[in-house]
Amino acid sequence: MTTKYLIWDLPLRIFHWVLVATIAAAWYTSDQDNGFIDYHLICGYVALGLITFRVLWGFLGTRHSQFKSFIPTPSKLISYVKKDKHMQDPAGHNPLGSLMVVFMLTIILLQAVSGLFMNDDIFTAGPYNGAIDKDIEAILVFIHRNSFDFILGAIALHIIAIISYKKFKNKSLVLPMITGKKSSDDVSEKDAIKHSKIILAIIIALAVAAFVYWLVVMNAPVAEEYYY
Ligand code: HEM
Ligand code: HEM
Repeated sequence: MTTKYLIWDLPLRIFHWVLVATIAAAWYTSDQDNGFIDYHLICGYVALGLITFRVLWGFLGTRHSQFKSFIPTPSKLISYVKKDKHMQDPAGHNPLGSLMVVFMLTIILLQAVSGLFMNDDIFTAGPYNGAIDKDIEAILVFIHRNSFDFILGAIALHIIAIISYKKFKNKSLVLPMITGKKSSDDVSEKDAIKHSKIILAIIIALAVAAFVYWLVVMNAPVAEEYYY
């Protein structure tokens, strides 16, 4: 009989699926023709909060969510690529997947931060538009207009990797990202985490929400003044 062990904590799983919905919504609302650009800014703030939460969770979260358990070093990557096919995969992210995780978190953070300085040349501007040197702002606007293509590329690779895992290794990575659990065929009892650190996650999420509110509302220069 196969037993199931908890590997992905609940806050990480909520983070993942809310991030997926947020990125999809940010993409849809970014198109001026859809008329939802005000909501685009809100999606951007949510994305900023989510990535900030994930970075803190990478230090304070449960075992497999912690960066130290999966940040890939060159030696880990080489031994993973060369390894014997019958060796068991790590319980959490594998070294190649970890590279992609780090890349996705970094580029989404860059997209959200650069958004704070954006301006659509009509009515909508990020809260820090006009608050910094024009040359640096032009670079950030350039980044915001172009880095989404890299995000899309990363998402495509991410989904291809998940489908390949299913096809070639006959392992679903998606179900564990929903239930948090992996079967004893793939992980052992010592890999299991005991609980999801929910209370700590709620405290971190509230602190992050307060920080984002402070950043984009309380601390932001008054955007309107640039239009008069
Ligand atoms: C991760 C979060 C975000 C994503 C994925 C995202 C994505 C995008 C994309 C794909 C575009 C269209 C670029 C183009 O083709 O010209 C865009 C434009 C824009 N974004 Fe974001 N964005 C994010 C966060 C933000 C934030 C936080 C703000 C401001 C607070 C913001 C403000 C804007 C503005 C004002 C535009 C200009 C629309 C235009 O020039 O037509 N974005 N964003
Ligand atoms: C907007 C699209 C998406 C983004 C930005 C995204 C981002 C991410 C990130 C950042 C992680 C790492 C989780 C962590 O923080 O440790 C991850 C893992 C994962 N994602 Fe996504 N994801 C997207 C779409 C999807 C979709 C559509 C699926 C399902 C078909 C999926 C399935 C998974 C799975 C299974 C993992 C765990 C991989 C592993 O076992 O190592 N993701 N994703």
